Amino acid sequence: MKITVVNGTEKKGVTYKLKEIFLEQFRDNAEITEFYLPKDGPGFCTGCTACFLTYQNLCKDAETVQKIEKALLEADLLVFTSPAYVFHTTGAMKAMLDHFGYRWMSHRPAKEMFGKRAVIITQCLGAGGSSAAKDIKDSLSWWGISYIRKCGFKLMSEIHWDKLPEKKRDAMTKKLTSLAQKMLKIDYSKPAHTGMITKIKFYMVRMLQTGLGKDNPEYTDFKYWKSNGWIDGVRPWRPE
Ligand SMILES: Cc1cc2nc3c(=O)[nH]c(=O)nc-3n(C[C@H](O)[C@H](O)[C@H](O)COP(=O)(O)O)c2cc1C
Repeated sequence: MKITVVNGTEKKGVTYKLKEIFLEQFRDNAEITEFYLPKDGPGFCTGCTACFLTYQNLCKDAETVQKIEKALLEADLLVFTSPAYVFHTTGAMKAMLDHFGYRWMSHRPAKEMFGKRAVIITQCLGAGGSSAAKDIKDSLSWWGISYIRKCGFKLMSEIHWDKLPEKKRDAMTKKLTSLAQKMLKIDYSKPAHTGMITKIKFYMVRMLQTGLGKDNPEYTDFKYWKSNGWIDGVRPWRPE
């Protein structure tokens, strides 16, 4: 199987350690590709809107964005990690996610995403971990992914792995290992089930795109929906 990991920090701290514990269960069976942000990620989105309006490869950061996208589309399992920074995901992760705005279902989602599985690992000192996970989940779910598992931790007293009480480290290790073992049992040759909420979003956007296409059949997003057959009877979660 293939796993693509996007790390919201390049620091080899607690987030890194938690991610390593999770991945340990897959090391013998998986081909793992990792991106550490900000070093492996795109620069900030400048709001040129070329990706939305015309073509994603016109973006100044297209090469980096497309490299990440290729790895995401090829993977069976997507893993996103982030510490909470001021109650949210890191700026580096947000900067990367902004570049995938054009992949939100309201624009031009990749059909492969509907069958993907994803895990979000977050940690914080005391508060903000769940909003950090939500920042990432918002994008993943709007990319079309239904199967998203969140695994969050609160360190409470200490932000250095080695200084954390042993009991605390054991509990975190147990939680991550148990999730990894559960994820390991999945038959990745079958796409994940597409949930009702994802389908509702899809049908709402389909209605919107149909209307936009009537006003302007050359509209970029409408043409994409039409060429995928989604305005007609094709659905991204059904085998063709
Ligand atoms: C800029 C910055 C902002 C942070 N904001 C929060 C926060 O809002 N809530 C919190 O509980 N921890 C916060 N932390 C602590 C981190 O979430 C994290 O626990 C710590 O950086 C250890 O993780 P790391 O070793 O992976 O960097 C912050 C840390 C940094 C550097």
